[in-house]
Amino acid sequence: MSNLNVTHLEQQAFTRSTPVLPTSESKGVEIQIKNLHKYYGQVTVLENLDLNIQAGEFLAIVGRSGCGKSTLLRLIADLEQSSSGQIQLDGKQASHQPDVRVMFQDPRLLPWRSVVDNVNLGRSKAQKVQAFTLLEKVGLKDKSQLWPAQLSGGQRQRAALARALLHRPKVLLLDEPLGALDALTRLDMQQLIENLWLDQGFTAILVTHDVSEAVQLADRIILLNRGEIEAQFTVDLPRPRQKSPAFTQLEQEVLNAVLAT
Ligand SMILES: Nc1ncnc2c1ncn2[C@@H]1O[C@H](COP(=O)(O)OP(=O)(O)OP(=O)(O)O)[C@@H](O)[C@H]1O
Ligand SMILES: [Mg+2]
Repeated sequence: MSNLNVTHLEQQAFTRSTPVLPTSESKGVEIQIKNLHKYYGQVTVLENLDLNIQAGEFLAIVGRSGCGKSTLLRLIADLEQSSSGQIQLDGKQASHQPDVRVMFQDPRLLPWRSVVDNVNLGRSKAQKVQAFTLLEKVGLKDKSQLWPAQLSGGQRQRAALARALLHRPKVLLLDEPLGALDALTRLDMQQLIENLWLDQGFTAILVTHDVSEAVQLADRIILLNRGEIEAQFTVDLPRPRQKSPAFTQLEQEVLNAVLAT
């Protein structure tokens, strides 16, 4: 985005031909998931799941509806307890992790608070300056005093993104955050998320039904099926990604794998 500073990491990412993880500068954490099980009554949603996510990695999760993607994100965010198994963030148990933020398909803004007060939620008026800075970064500088109802769907998601990033999270979990947006707004938001990820270095996990979006943004894509990781794909394409024969080929490969589940 034009209103973001281009860091050296971003410049590296633009020029290198392999995926760039902002590891050395990373403010992200490593996530280690071992033998994870989640049952709802008799229903097994996640079964013996093992997954390591590098600090600063951008991981995408795809899979058919009901395969357990949101459940996995809720467990990582400690919004729900696993039935058994471990989730560790930089070697520590994932409970009470203030550094993990989640962004959902629905922006969940409070209608009775202004945009800036939504972003600054739970913090003092003196700290509002950071909320304004983030609103500027997401392109909402002029909208900060409006009510959420006065924003478009895409603008509400930008505000939700600013709110999620206010505390400089080490992990950002994205559960289909762009699912309800039109195609053009979606492309803008993808670019914004990628730039903020490059700028801030958090570990990102994106759940999406859009395989093209997964190839556009992720370093690695995992396919969930019946509670297990059915397949993994490394996205070895330079950023920012353009539709190239290699892009389209990988997109087709992932799509075929999803359709085969
Ligand atoms: N609180 C709950 N109680 C009982 N079953 C649940 C609960 N939450 C989720 N499930 C079940 O767990 C399974 C996985 O749900 P989950 O929401 O993780 O799927 P998903 O992959 O995110 O699907 P979608 O792509 O449609 O969002 C589903 O069969 C769902 O019915
Ligand atoms: Mg879901």
